[in-house]
Amino acid sequence: MKVTVVGAGFVGMTCAQRLAEQEVAEDIVLIDVLEGRPQGIALDINQAAAVEGYQALVTGTNDPKDTYGSDLFIMTAGLPRKPGMDRSDLLETNGKIVNAVASYIKQGSPKACVIVVSNPLDTMVFLMSASLGFEKSRVVGMAGILDSARMAFFISEKNGGGIKDTRCMVLGGHGDSMVPVPQFSTVDGVSITAMLPESEIDEINTRTQHGGAEIVNLLKTGSAFYAPSAAAVAMAKSILRDEHRLLPCAAHLDGQYGLSDIYLGVPCVLGKNGVERIVELDLDEAGQAKLNASAEAIRADLETLVEKGLLAK
Ligand code: 2OP
Repeated sequence: MKVTVVGAGFVGMTCAQRLAEQEVAEDIVLIDVLEGRPQGIALDINQAAAVEGYQALVTGTNDPKDTYGSDLFIMTAGLPRKPGMDRSDLLETNGKIVNAVASYIKQGSPKACVIVVSNPLDTMVFLMSASLGFEKSRVVGMAGILDSARMAFFISEKNGGGIKDTRCMVLGGHGDSMVPVPQFSTVDGVSITAMLPESEIDEINTRTQHGGAEIVNLLKTGSAFYAPSAAAVAMAKSILRDEHRLLPCAAHLDGQYGLSDIYLGVPCVLGKNGVERIVELDLDEAGQAKLNASAEAIRADLETLVEKGLLAK
């Protein structure tokens, strides 16, 4: 298996590290436009293998040809947010990067699956998919697992631990309009609605919606990378090992949840063909209304991409 991580920033670099340590692929390529950085990180990870004992080789490169023949890409390249910025503020800069990367994926790895991590996530995954022209199921966005992981941590704090058994469901876009769904969030199968008072669940939902910004504000430069890379690598494993895990991801909707022609966070089964199945949850009216509002916010960003000439109408 050959996996390429695009972008050697903190998310890309920790993705490469996790892929190597967990031996998800033997051949891992880390590509970046910065000369020296991916090569340096690759060398460092390869040397750590002598201590950790994993069998994987990371190649750091600036040359797209080195990515040719990849089975899977994790696209992390793009600018991160600065404090006070919205993910949508990154639309134009990151949109251009996505289009440039799509052209070499299409050229050299026409059978690959692509996991998009770059922000604003739901628009960048749509743009990647449109630019590639692959089956939509082979292009998927990472966000729901990350948002659900944040929610799980906040729940475990309230419960005094037990994060291992906490499984959450966050749907919709990876922005302020994301939709945490408490009734489908459980601790070892028990809904959190039976475990925590409504006021605490409201607090958890709000903190989840702003979970990325909370970290951006603390770090001051850059954004989160440990949980984002863990989430992207969980998706990579489910695809490459055909694990068929049910994970919330940004998938292309074709009528599911009453929505079409959009990438949005929904529960997906990930296997060797990418998104093998989208599961439709029975949402109440309020939940569906929130999902619709989230989709509207994404459509507004897609419109901006069209206006800027980055996405064909
Ligand atoms: C986050 O939520 C970077 O969007 C990513 O932390």
